[in-house]
This record gives sequence, structure tokens and C-alpha cells, in this order.
Amino acid sequence: MAPTLSHLLLAILVIFSIQTFKGRARTLKPEHQQSFGSFLQKLEGVQKGQAAERLLDLKKYLKKFGYYPSDATLTSSDFDDHLELALKAYQKFYRLNVTGNLDSSTTQQMMIPRCGVPDIINPPPSTEPSSTESKHKKFHMVAHYAFGSNKWPPSKYALTYTFGPGVHDFDLKTMRSVCADAFQKWAEVTSFTFTEATDGASADLVIAFYSGDHGDGASFDGPGKILAHAFFPQDGRLHYDADENWSTDPAMDQIDLESVSVHEIGHLLGLHHSNDSESIMYPSIHIGRKKRDLTQVDIAGIHALYPN
Ligand SMILES: *[C@@H]1O[C@H](CO)[C@@H](O)[C@H](O)[C@H]1NC(C)=O
Ligand SMILES: *[C@@H]1O[C@H](CO)[C@@H](O)[C@H](O)[C@H]1NC(C)=O
Ligand SMILES: *[C@@H]1O[C@H](CO)[C@@H](O)[C@H](O)[C@H]1NC(C)=O
Ligand SMILES: [Zn+2]
Ligand SMILES: [Zn+2]
Repeated sequence: MAPTLSHLLLAILVIFSIQTFKGRARTLKPEHQQSFGSFLQKLEGVQKGQAAERLLDLKKYLKKFGYYPSDATLTSSDFDDHLELALKAYQKFYRLNVTGNLDSSTTQQMMIPRCGVPDIINPPPSTEPSSTESKHKKFHMVAHYAFGSNKWPPSKYALTYTFGPGVHDFDLKTMRSVCADAFQKWAEVTSFTFTEATDGASADLVIAFYSGDHGDGASFDGPGKILAHAFFPQDGRLHYDADENWSTDPAMDQIDLESVSVHEIGHLLGLHHSNDSESIMYPSIHIGRKKRDLTQVDIAGIHALYPN
């Protein structure tokens, strides 16, 4: 009798402590992420052939990041063959088990904050056979790094940058120092130099903070989920989501400004996302994590794009 009772008590205590921890962890999460997370959690385990109201949002999420053919129109909230294919492609990129199901490791990966740039750039239209071969012709996915055909010409290896909207509200002094450090990481392994443009001069790269829809077709989404995005050469725009809790020394509910900056500068130079989770060019980053140094994968990628 006695041991059973104490075991029961212990079990209750364990359940109780897990729930308090979960509750506390949840209150730390920003509003948006909570709703995105809970919608994903509700979808977890939905099977092919079933319909669920929020499946359309999931399809839009997958399309945004390049996991649907470029000409796909998403209207139904059925779990159809196309969704299964998209999930498999997502799972392959993130090195999850390629089940085509909405399992918990897949929904958990989707909840990690990430860059707004698609993982698969210019996915072929549905009429084209989406064989690995045709993909390889479109964009080099050599080893674990990737890039496209957009790059800076040698006459543009001395790039200038300037700070645009929102940076002054954030903290210009901090941005100057964080960006100088982040640019330096890439300058060390390439022929590029990066200098702040003199007042009033036009610059090659423009760094800004925006909230929500800011007119470039890639809206931000409040705290969490999408952190920043940047355009491939020779566009030069780098945008941070002004609604994130940015920090230069992140607590467990903050995002490291320098880590995200090093990643986005990789896009400014022409790199696509890497599927190596330690690489700077990996799309997602955990809240509170500092990941500021280029890895061998990043260096091999930039050298392959700019061999000299
Ligand atoms: C993949 O499946 C195996 C076997 O079911 C499991 O042990 C492993 O943890 C899974 N991996 C991921 C990333 O979910
Ligand atoms: C990462 O991408 C490369 C290039 O497509 C591929 O060869 C490799 O298998 C991928 N790795 C994983 C684990 O998916
Ligand atoms: C940002 O993070 C700090 C440090 O953890 C925290 O005190 C603050 O409440 C957060 N602000 C927002 C708006 O979440
Ligand atoms: Zn990115
Ligand atoms: Zn933008």
C-alpha cells in the first residue's frame, strides 16, 4: 500500500512540475508565435485524405519558403498529394524523417524562428518534372551550400552600406558596431570590403528595420516566426523585423542581432540557404542562441560563388 501511494504522489509531483515549466515557457513566447505554434500543434497528426481548417495556412507557409511549384494555387484545406510532396521536400531539407506526415518533429521545426528568404529559390512549375536533375541545373546545390546566378561583379567588390528607416529608432550606434563585425566575418574570407557610405552618398547596401507589410512583397509578421530577410545581388536591401526582441547579448527570449546579420549578409552576397544546421546560412535560429561564426560550409560556399 505505502509504496504505491508514494509512487502515485511522485507521479503527481512530476506531472505538476512539468506543467508549471511548460506554462512558464509559454508565457515567455511572443503572442504571434503562440498562435502560429498552437495552430501547428492542432494540425499535428492530421492524415492524408482528411481536411482541417488551418491546412491552407500550412500550405501557404510551405509555398512561401519554396516547397510548392511556382505556379501552384492553394485553395483547398484538404491534405492532398501536393501537400504530402511539399512536406516531404521540407523534411528532406531539414533532415527529418521523410514521412510526408505532419509529425511532431516537423511541426517543431516550423516553430523555430527563421529567415524570410525561401529555402528553395525559383522552384520549377508543376508542369516541369521536378527531378533532382532539373533542380541541379537551376541552382547549384553543391555539398551543403547553395547559390544562384546572382552575384556582384569584380568591379563591385568594394561595397558601401548605409542605414535606412527604423535604424535610428533602434540604436544607430549599436547597429554600426554589430554590422561592422558581421561584415568583417565575410570580408576576412573574400575579396570584398565593406565601408559605411559617407553622408548623402548612395550606397550599394541599405540596412533597415520594418514592421509588417513594408512594400517589398515580403511582409513581416510581428514577434517570432520571421526575423529578417535580404535580397540577392545586386539589390542590396537587408531588412530586420522591427517587432523582434533584438539583443547584442540575448537572454532566452531574445534574438541575437549579430547572428542574424551575418546570415543576411550571406544573402546580400548571393548565398542561398544551407541544409547544414551548424552553417550560418541555415534558415532557422533558436531564440537566445548566438551563432556568429562562418563554418567551413559557409566558406566553401562563398569561395565557390566567388572563386579567386
Ligand atoms: C526518425 O525515426 C526514427 C525511427 O522511428 C527515430 O528513432 C528518430 O528519432 C526519428 N528522427 C527524427 C528527426 O524525428
Ligand atoms: C544537403 O544538400 C545536399 C545538396 O543537395 C545533399 O546532397 C545532401 O544530401 C543534403 N543533406 C541532407 C542530410 O539532406
Ligand atoms: C525583451 O527581452 C527582455 C530580456 O529578456 C525582457 O525583459 C523584455 O520584456 C522583452 N521585451 C519584449 C517586448 O518581449
Ligand atoms: Zn536566410
Ligand atoms: Zn523587406
